[in-house]
Amino acid sequence: TARRKLIAGNWKMNGLKADGLALASDLAGRLKGAGVVAFDMLVCPPFPLLFPVHEAIADSPLALGAQDCHAKTSGAHTGDVSPVMLKDAGCRFVIVGHSERRADHGESDAEIAAKAAAAHKEGLVAIICVGETEAQRDAGQANAVVSTQLKGSIPEGATAANTVIAYEPVWAIGTGKTATPDDVKAMHAHIRAELDGKIVEPDAVRILYGGSVKPGNAAELMAVDNVDGALVGGASLKADDFWAIGVSC
Ligand code: G3H
Repeated sequence: TARRKLIAGNWKMNGLKADGLALASDLAGRLKGAGVVAFDMLVCPPFPLLFPVHEAIADSPLALGAQDCHAKTSGAHTGDVSPVMLKDAGCRFVIVGHSERRADHGESDAEIAAKAAAAHKEGLVAIICVGETEAQRDAGQANAVVSTQLKGSIPEGATAANTVIAYEPVWAIGTGKTATPDDVKAMHAHIRAELDGKIVEPDAVRILYGGSVKPGNAAELMAVDNVDGALVGGASLKADDFWAIGVSC
């Protein structure tokens, strides 16, 4: 199955309006100027920047996403943002279950599945994140941990069109350590096999790798079997680096 690569930038809690607009506009301009490219590109800014970034990139193929959402549409949930609000702000994607949310906010697989289902209801693509810690990998539990996360975090009704999986080994996030191409190949094959029966059209689902992806290692990682793109943190904050990751596909 031919799967078009997705290069997704997760800005995390970085960027004020001026910088965010400059970064997104720069990328949008490059995409427009490049014409036909081999990848889809997505930026996921912090919530306050969604509306202005959407306006700045609206006439380009650069897609917009958010970093989290609530599972409900509206109501008494102070500080939360719902999928319908994200859609209103121009988002097509939302990341759910990032390891930083799992760790900092104690998000469970069941909550993540509910968020993904809510995103689907609004027509958003959910990028569901999974990945083991270093201790779990050292204990030989990486595959089992990821299997459990996939089983619990993928909601009913998930399809290749509304769901992307991101494999992010926790020990490789923001550390400069990257999983080896062989480790990535083995885990992505494991994930692909696990998607059978959980997602409609499992062979067409895009599985992204995340964890210290940068221009220097992107080409090697993007060439690995079943790696259908990247979820990029630090290197997505610089237009030159993020663009270089895209063109390495
Ligand atoms: O969502 C992105 C990942 O957590 C990777 O972050 O590229 O800074 O390691 P990083």
